[in-house]
Amino acid sequence: MKTIAVVCQKGGVGKTTTVINLASVLSRKGLKTLIIDTDPQGNVSTYLNQNKTSELSTSTTQILEGENNIEPIKVFENLYLIPSDVDIKKHNTEKIVGGSKLRKIRLNETIKTFDIVFIDTPPTMSSLVQEALSTSDYYFIPSKPEFLAVEGVGQAMTFAKQTISEVPHTDPHFLGVVPELKQILSDKLFRTHISQLTEIADSPFYAKTVLDFSEYSKARIEFEELSNELLEKVGL
Ligand SMILES: Nc1ncnc2c1ncn2[C@@H]1O[C@H](COP(=O)(O)OP(=O)(O)OP(=O)(O)O)[C@@H](O)[C@H]1O
Ligand SMILES: [Mg+2]
Repeated sequence: MKTIAVVCQKGGVGKTTTVINLASVLSRKGLKTLIIDTDPQGNVSTYLNQNKTSELSTSTTQILEGENNIEPIKVFENLYLIPSDVDIKKHNTEKIVGGSKLRKIRLNETIKTFDIVFIDTPPTMSSLVQEALSTSDYYFIPSKPEFLAVEGVGQAMTFAKQTISEVPHTDPHFLGVVPELKQILSDKLFRTHISQLTEIADSPFYAKTVLDFSEYSKARIEFEELSNELLEKVGL
């Protein structure tokens, strides 16, 4: 099992879009894939056309409150979701006090059956992002080609480093920045970049992922490439 947090305190840089499309592509390749949402906005559920809460499944909030019997939602073959909702805000403090509460899922028998676990995070520098980092083996940062977004990458890296030094048992490996178009951080970039595409921007409205596009579509080709690069980086 490889656990990957996708972080950036700057909003709207493509965290959720990247998680959804990578997870979809990897699940299609046959990897058993889980998305854990830690964002009170619950955008992952909206994107995948799922309820944010259900009596039949476990939410991230319930796990933070001690639930050990974890039942993810099955979205489709090999793709599962642990949703978030506004209630998770109760657990959103400035910093983690004590150790991470989410990290214990690494030992959970249901969670251990997954090949890859993505954790989507809110656009904050808060304990919910620290929970995600503490639970993860790796993290990466999506970014847009705008000056303030590039500044945001530096701030996100500083926050992650602080979290690693302050929260016990926390040491995710930095995979790099996923650029939307080419930008200035060249040595820390993924090879693949994701273009700004209307079909990606519109896809949440139709609850579509790049898998619903033609295999020749630019969006799908780029996310296939990114998923291969990610597998290489995490050794899967
Ligand atoms: N490559 C892309 N091309 C076009 N639109 C995109 C692309 N990536 C993301 N978007 C759009 O940009 C907006 C923000 O993306 P997304 O919700 O993934 O960002 P986020 O970092 O998760 O935001 P938040 O910080 O609020 O959680 C969305 O409307 C999304 O559809
Ligand atoms: Mg998001």
